[in-house]
Amino acid sequence: MVQLLNEGFRVSIIDNLDNSVTEAVDGGDLRNKDLEKLFSQTQFDALIHFAGLKVVGESVVNPRRYFDNNLIGTINLYEVMAKYDCKKMVFSSSATVYGQPEKMPCVEDFELKAMNPYGRTKLFLEEIARDIQKAEPDWKII
Ligand SMILES: NC(=O)c1ccc[n+]([C@@H]2O[C@H](COP(=O)([O-])OP(=O)(O)OC[C@H]3O[C@@H](n4cnc5c(N)ncnc54)[C@H](O)[C@@H]3O)[C@@H](O)[C@H]2O)c1
Repeated sequence: MVQLLNEGFRVSIIDNLDNSVTEAVDGGDLRNKDLEKLFSQTQFDALIHFAGLKVVGESVVNPRRYFDNNLIGTINLYEVMAKYDCKKMVFSSSATVYGQPEKMPCVEDFELKAMNPYGRTKLFLEEIARDIQKAEPDWKII
């Protein structure tokens, strides 16, 4: 964010404070009305999506929490972005989508085989991004 501000961009942050503090960010959750309120007030050019739960062990113990937060949150985000015509996203996926690669370093054409619920949320979200972009080519998702 500091880098973007230094480059002259105007930036908003939405974060539900699950793993952050109010000194650093504004509140707001991807899964509720906070998101719609923010988008209705500002026309965004693009979005950098880092919001997610990321602890592999916790995701094994409580997969529903990860599916709800990471999958539902991101699907909701796509809906609101589409509604307000913001179709550029940088999405933070994870190397866990490759499972245990046979060699290192891991590169992007390795086989996708997530081995835990956290990794699967990221893999599903990559597939969702591919499907959205295929159906609506004006989306740009990295
Ligand atoms: N840290 C790593 O090594 C690493 C590696 C690969 C991918 N990632 C991914 O990058 C992203 C950011 O990772 P990080 O290490 O900065 O994690 P982080 O926990 O510091 O940042 C994620 C932020 O998202 C917020 N958040 C979570 N769910 C939310 C929701 N539903 N609505 C709004 N805000 C929500 C949390 O409060 C937190 O501030 C994550 O999606 C993670 O899966 C991280």
